[in-house]
Amino acid sequence: MQEHQHEEYFLSPQRALTDAEEKLVWKKPLSHMSSEEERRITKEVKRNWHRGEMKISNILLEGDAGSGKTQLAKALSANFGLPYTKVTCFADMDKSDIIGAILPVISPERLETSEPSDQTALKALYESDHFQSTTQIIMSALDISKEQAANKMKQLLKLVVDQTDGEAVEYRFYPSEIVRAYQRGYLLEIQEPNVIRDAAVLMALNSALELDGSINLPTEIIHRHPDFIAVITTNRSYVGSRHLNEALRDRVQHSEKMDLPSKEIMMERAKVKTGYEDEQVLSVLADTIMILDTTARANAIKGVAGMRSFFYWTDAVAGGASAKESLYHKVIYKITTDSEEIKILEEALHKHDLITHVESITNEVKKNGNPTMTLP
Ligand SMILES: Nc1ncnc2c1ncn2[C@@H]1O[C@H](COP(=O)(O)OP(=O)(O)OP(=O)(O)O)[C@@H](O)[C@H]1O
Ligand SMILES: [Mg+2]
Repeated sequence: MQEHQHEEYFLSPQRALTDAEEKLVWKKPLSHMSSEEERRITKEVKRNWHRGEMKISNILLEGDAGSGKTQLAKALSANFGLPYTKVTCFADMDKSDIIGAILPVISPERLETSEPSDQTALKALYESDHFQSTTQIIMSALDISKEQAANKMKQLLKLVVDQTDGEAVEYRFYPSEIVRAYQRGYLLEIQEPNVIRDAAVLMALNSALELDGSINLPTEIIHRHPDFIAVITTNRSYVGSRHLNEALRDRVQHSEKMDLPSKEIMMERAKVKTGYEDEQVLSVLADTIMILDTTARANAIKGVAGMRSFFYWTDAVAGGASAKESLYHKVIYKITTDSEEIKILEEALHKHDLITHVESITNEVKKNGNPTMTLP
């Protein structure tokens, strides 16, 4: 049995999780700092949990890259005591990625005649206990990436169907990550569903988000577990990107606008992450990131200056690197390498007198020696 720091907001305190499920419940690391958004959602969901149609179980976190959307979704898993899983959407997703796949079981003799890698993948699938998704099973059986595994699955489906025509066979259903979370009552992070191109796929996803919905599969009907929570995380749309489907937005009962956190929070997070404590230096670096972020937006420069750049820049400076030089490698070139755009960013920093400040940092750090780091 795991120890829980805080069970106050557990949604189903009596629910017994399996050991494997228990492992999926996020454990907050010491570096985690609860945000206002986290407290608000946690209270709201808990308050409405037994209020029938007012129940909140589809949540949208939309905003800046690195603003903490994924970590917030994980923190909710910890607060609610629900296993956390995620699905990363991609443009070519098809319905089997949303729902799952039905795979005929082919005879051992036939299995022998197929390609070694197909054999390995199929055997792993047939032997699976359904705890992992097909993609995960194939990923670990063949040691390949998620995309490759998704493709492999499609290839296997085709192969198996070709090989079994006419034969009376047994069929097995392999649920997707989404269906598993839906059926077993997990907290599912759905990352970037706005990239999905196929309207039919979006419709399948929409119907999976119905409050008391069910999913019709060729083999059975699957009902939404009362504990299932979907957290959609997506970057705010910009010119050229796809807007999150309206029907999907409409099914959300709570949404948060996730921006680059306030300067105080930025500095606090960087401190716990890097172990670097110098307030004055952190303040200059945070100001720089904020100016670059605003300037990039105002000038339609596509890259982002966000929390991740801030952490790595801070860490480089803490390690004794020149703040000015690492500004380029950790922040600016991550935004853009276009000379015209870089010029715009540099001018903005000059205008706010930040370049001089950044230049003065190096000496400070050299004088005080290198602070310790704990960046993973
Ligand atoms: N509440 C928090 N306390 C401490 N650190 C945090 C917190 N939230 C986020 N971070 C840190 O900020 C970084 C970015 O967070 P996260 O990955 O959650 O952002 P995101 O919004 O999901 O980004 P993306 O849009 O790229 O998916 C991570 O290193 C994470 O550990
Ligand atoms: Mg994320």
